[in-house]
Amino acid sequence: ERGGYATFMEKEINDQPHAVADTLLGRTDESGALVLDEVRISEEQLRAVDKITVVACGTAAYAGMVAKYAIEHWARIPVEVALAHEFRYADPVVDERTLVVSISQSGETMDTLMAVKHARELGAVTVSICNTHGSTIPRESDAVLYTHAGPEIAVASTKAFLAQITAAYILGLYLAQLRGGSYAEDAQAVMRDLADMPAKIQDLLGRMDRVKEMAEFMADTRSVLFLGRNVGYPVAMEGALKLKELAYIHAEGFAAGELKHGPIALIDAGQPVFVIVPSPDTPHDLHKKVVSNIQEIRARGARTLVIAHDGDEDVEPFASEVIRIPACPPMLAPLLAIVPLQVFALQLSTAKGLDVDQPRNLAKSVTVE
Ligand code: F6R
Repeated sequence: ERGGYATFMEKEINDQPHAVADTLLGRTDESGALVLDEVRISEEQLRAVDKITVVACGTAAYAGMVAKYAIEHWARIPVEVALAHEFRYADPVVDERTLVVSISQSGETMDTLMAVKHARELGAVTVSICNTHGSTIPRESDAVLYTHAGPEIAVASTKAFLAQITAAYILGLYLAQLRGGSYAEDAQAVMRDLADMPAKIQDLLGRMDRVKEMAEFMADTRSVLFLGRNVGYPVAMEGALKLKELAYIHAEGFAAGELKHGPIALIDAGQPVFVIVPSPDTPHDLHKKVVSNIQEIRARGARTLVIAHDGDEDVEPFASEVIRIPACPPMLAPLLAIVPLQVFALQLSTAKGLDVDQPRNLAKSVTVE
């Protein structure tokens, strides 16, 4: 049942090209236009939406952070991301024109379910991005956009995360097309770029030997930091979460721009820091800004573990290690950049002799508040 792999997590990491490809299946018609049959909300209602709130927990909330960048960029609708348990017990500004998008692998997370119920009471339109057919959250929502990652058994989420991000892109592109903004025509081109991603993930999975070696060398590490900007920021957060859950190591993700506002004080000789570098053609010169962040921490002795696109030579002078990912459009890079961090956490956990599939204190589906 583990398909020849030692753990479910390893199998699920290797299943990721399929999780993305299957989630993309059947989303466009013959003309290339996006169609979302499962989203049973009238186009009129969707056009009237003036704000989106994503509610989710843990890894799903990091997928929600990627969704924020993508949906705001493509569909020009303001998006906020709320941890479901925080949303539920605050006074969120939500009404009939708010689209509340829940993201949940299991569809049974109590915190997320309660947030969805609360949103409906407030009159919001609710869409569930979910991996489990017939589960509770989609049933309690107005509409559902299923991810097709297949069953995820390992407690730590991997392939569901990639599928959630893919579904969020689809939703963003669909809203862009529907509302006819400047990205309406580009939506089809982005769908074609997305269709190339499974092969790139497959390529990347074949390059993980060095990452595994690094994890083995680092089995005694006490603390690891992760930095990213824009869509690389949620990747940094998720990379840190994987390491906490699987290897019980103190790990923290930051927005790289936040470094000088405090976290840089943590940097001393030998501190390992993963840095997720955006592709060189990212808008706003972000690539240059991240390269200078690497330079700053390297100057203070950090061990810089740099995740960069193929062909990006600017990072070499300041990197202790460069982990290469295939080149891709800036917005889609999370589907690649997270993979080496998943493999790193898996391998470090294994090197420490821990239970990869069942980390201590955790349950696959958190059905209590
Ligand atoms: C992390 C992890 C958790 C879940 C979170 C939400 O690896 O598995 O953070 O992502 O508990 O679970 P779902 O998506 O089932 O609502």
